[in-house]
Amino acid sequence: MSDTVILGTPLSTSATKVMLLGSGELGKEVIIALQRLGVEVIAVDRYANAPGQQVAHRAYTIDMTDGDALTALVEKERPHLIVPEIEALNTDALAQIEQAGFATVIPTVKAVQLTMNREGIRRLAAETLKLPTSPYAFARSEIELAASIDAGIGYPCFIKPTMSSSGKGQSRITQASEVKAAWDYAASGGRVNHGVVIVEGQIDFDFEITLLTVRAKNAAGEIQTYFCDPIGHRQERGDYVESWQPQAMTAAALAAAQQVAQSITEALGGLGLFGVELFVKGDQVWFSEVSPRPHDTGMVTMCTQRLNEFELHARAILGLPVDVALTKPGASAVIYGGMESKHLRYAGLAAALAIADSDVRLFGKPESFTHRRMGVALATADDVLTARAKATKVASLVKTQSESC
Ligand SMILES: Nc1ncnc2c1ncn2[C@@H]1O[C@H](COP(=O)(O)OP(=O)(O)OP(=O)(O)O)[C@@H](O)[C@H]1O
Ligand SMILES: [Mg+2]
Repeated sequence: MSDTVILGTPLSTSATKVMLLGSGELGKEVIIALQRLGVEVIAVDRYANAPGQQVAHRAYTIDMTDGDALTALVEKERPHLIVPEIEALNTDALAQIEQAGFATVIPTVKAVQLTMNREGIRRLAAETLKLPTSPYAFARSEIELAASIDAGIGYPCFIKPTMSSSGKGQSRITQASEVKAAWDYAASGGRVNHGVVIVEGQIDFDFEITLLTVRAKNAAGEIQTYFCDPIGHRQERGDYVESWQPQAMTAAALAAAQQVAQSITEALGGLGLFGVELFVKGDQVWFSEVSPRPHDTGMVTMCTQRLNEFELHARAILGLPVDVALTKPGASAVIYGGMESKHLRYAGLAAALAIADSDVRLFGKPESFTHRRMGVALATADDVLTARAKATKVASLVKTQSESC
């Protein structure tokens, strides 16, 4: 038994310090998990009063794409670990910080760099690791885009900015007349406009899953890969609306999914939890993308696993052992703002929580938009279908109101 992990006392000279870059609802739960282990947590976000900032020891609001600002903050706070929760970061600065020996970036700088750009991760998966993916091409102009679709990608296809997430700038088109609009939308929707889009042929899947995969130290002190039960989910507007665990699948598909997840996470390296997104049809699986951090669809684990994905991430990055066991089938359903407001109210909670085996998380985001995710409903049941119906019901009972109501 190798037992080398030592944790300190927060707010003292012995503190174990972790800095979250991005402090939304996923970061908030990672922070809570770290707080429970007495870790000193610094929450950074691009806007003030972000969910994670409300539960951290200290909070900063900076532009994390600004390398100088990021480096200055790390030098001031001197965290042991830097945990990115978002993709819009200055990764060159992170690489320099790690090289200078200031802090360890979770899971690795390389993983953060590769996954922030669809081109990096797709080429690693398909070309280096030879994992099955949708047919794809990269295009730098509308003409190149049309040419690559005609050359074999075909219709229907998905056009996505290489630097984007949550469906931003993404469209699905079915004919040539839609290429221009898809190009324009991708060019305007990308996070940092590098003028490159990926076009992917549509995979005709039965269902899609997130396979939460953890790289953590085992009893011998070696890094081992652990898999949670597969999570099924439903996407709308490029964002998840509902997820459930476990997603039933064939033994062959599960084995193939785990093999893909093992391969991609091993290539990215480091310690931590990853969300590997896969498409499944019968026994066949395709790699779609991977988050080197907890995944939004994995919020369902807050009711289904002994250790949820945030606790697993916290333990793994600290070098502690994990347990990925499922305790009960369950589901999550997103609660949207439904309106624009800077002082949203949430009603109907008593009725929602009167549903047996249900729970609600409200993220406390300072500003609401119609389709902004403001909370999530959770429910467990003996089977996934019942859990899904319950979670959806719980979410629908939570009513958002503007202050004047
Ligand atoms: N090639 C494809 N074939 C079939 N469906 C696809 C394809 N690409 C994307 N989709 C659908 O669109 C959804 C969003 O795509 P993707 O995960 O690439 O975007 P994203 O912006 O990274 O979303 P998120 O950040 O929410 O994961 C997928 O979960 C899937 O439902
Ligand atoms: Mg995705």
